[in-house]
Amino acid sequence: MDFEKQLISILKKETGLEEVNLEIPPSSELGDYAFPCFELSKAKKRSPILIAQELSITIKKPPFISKIFANGPYLNFFLDPNLFTNNTLKKIIKEKENYGKSNNKNLVMIEFSQANTHKAFHVGHIRGTALGESLSRILEFSGNNVYRSNYQGDTGMHVAKWIWCYKKYHSKEKIKPEEKWIASIYVDAVKRLANDPDLQNQVDKINKSLEERKDKTLLDLWKKTRKLSLNSFEKIYKELNTHFDYYFFEAEQEKRGREIAKELIKNKIAEFSDGAAIINLETHNLGVWVLLRKDGTVLYSSKDLALAEKKFNKYKINKSIYVVGAAQRLHISQLFKTLELMKFKYAKNCFYVPVSEVRLPTGKMSSRTGDNILYSEFIAELIDYAKSEINKREKLSKSELNKRALHISIAAIKYSMLKQNTNNTIVFNKEEALNFEGNTGPYLLYSYARAKSILNKSKKKRTLFKIKTIQTNEKELISELALFPSIVSNAYTNLSPSLIANYAHNLSQKFNEFYHSNKVIGSEEESFRLALVESFSIVLKNSLNLLGINVIEKM
Ligand code: ARG
Repeated sequence: MDFEKQLISILKKETGLEEVNLEIPPSSELGDYAFPCFELSKAKKRSPILIAQELSITIKKPPFISKIFANGPYLNFFLDPNLFTNNTLKKIIKEKENYGKSNNKNLVMIEFSQANTHKAFHVGHIRGTALGESLSRILEFSGNNVYRSNYQGDTGMHVAKWIWCYKKYHSKEKIKPEEKWIASIYVDAVKRLANDPDLQNQVDKINKSLEERKDKTLLDLWKKTRKLSLNSFEKIYKELNTHFDYYFFEAEQEKRGREIAKELIKNKIAEFSDGAAIINLETHNLGVWVLLRKDGTVLYSSKDLALAEKKFNKYKINKSIYVVGAAQRLHISQLFKTLELMKFKYAKNCFYVPVSEVRLPTGKMSSRTGDNILYSEFIAELIDYAKSEINKREKLSKSELNKRALHISIAAIKYSMLKQNTNNTIVFNKEEALNFEGNTGPYLLYSYARAKSILNKSKKKRTLFKIKTIQTNEKELISELALFPSIVSNAYTNLSPSLIANYAHNLSQKFNEFYHSNKVIGSEEESFRLALVESFSIVLKNSLNLLGINVIEKM
């Protein structure tokens, strides 16, 4: 906020300090800003209480401050409420979708979602996808150029298992494009191998043959099923409102991965152990990282080294973010450490956002087989529930009902996942996520629609407003609105959408308190209150947009 900057510069002049940090007092009755006098007390060797008292007398009050007083070791300031309100609302209404933007200028690649072909897209993938999309938007809003990328595992043991199982037990079935069927073959493979571990030999052979790329029929089957899997993911991405600029595949990293592993051996960073190429990271508390198997096939590790190199060298990025499951924390640490040991120029420009698990309460929400529930089953169950909730409230045409139920379900899922710290395991509960009253996506959509319905009743120019009196619940809403830019900036530095999610909820609560106790249209303060509602709708829309959630005008 501009007032904050002005106040800081006044305090710097007054105190001679090179750095001044203001705090926000714990309650609004204590003012809008507080200047702690501890630093100054150290420098002047006098009590901070005395210093605060002296300052409160000597400091010249700027016009935007209505009151200054000493509060123990703090010097507290009240902003002139009319001036503050005027400035805040005019700024928001003028800047609209740009309100809160900043100007960092990095070229960032963010990798997320990374579902593997030949397997299910499950609830955990929804979390990673929602998180990656939200982070991408926060990065863009903060002025960066963002490349969204996806790294799908299209080769490796899981693919070999699928192909083995299909050929051996399902070859009479028609190959179907549905996620459900594709995933079921993989689940069957895992079960059969668990029952008879000796079968793994056959899978290993297929894995090796796939990597050699010589058996044409095998390759054709791989290509065909790989494509089906990828297409089924694309449908999901569309529904989740996300897209990718670049797709990387594991198969494409094999060649360079093998080369890097060999270079590491040559440079004595890696070594052979029992025929396998490994890198010993024990001195860094990161165990042993295997780069190549005994049979020479290349592992996930080496492929990631090749990919890291490609991201920087080919795409000229200066920051690389990995949104990857928390279960891979060790792998990512091994990767970053190895890049450092290799003296890779950009090792320090790689960042990890670990995504913890999503669990489902037992019962209807978990899949029949006990395996991970598929995206399609999950979303269908949510839509059904959303429909029953909407039907309680209003009667919509069938197509309108379908559309709205899908929209609300996606908002509910995304919000319930994004409001949590990325490190927290989530137990997803559909009744809770779809509650129209709680800390939920539907509640936010509803608050937005409520604001819109007020605004639609008047066409008056929003910037021409007069303020007579400002009530407490209005003041609180305005202060919250003014916080938005600093919330975005925190979410950006901490790579944490949850800060924005929780902000959007606080903001909506303040709006609803205001709404319940004040008439807008037809009141004496109509022009001012309309400007306030307009500002709220802009800031909530901006917040939701950063979470990857689209607003709806009616609800
Ligand atoms: N496809 C991988 C998996 O499901 C995740 C990829 C994570 N990204 C990476 N660069 N390793 O296990």
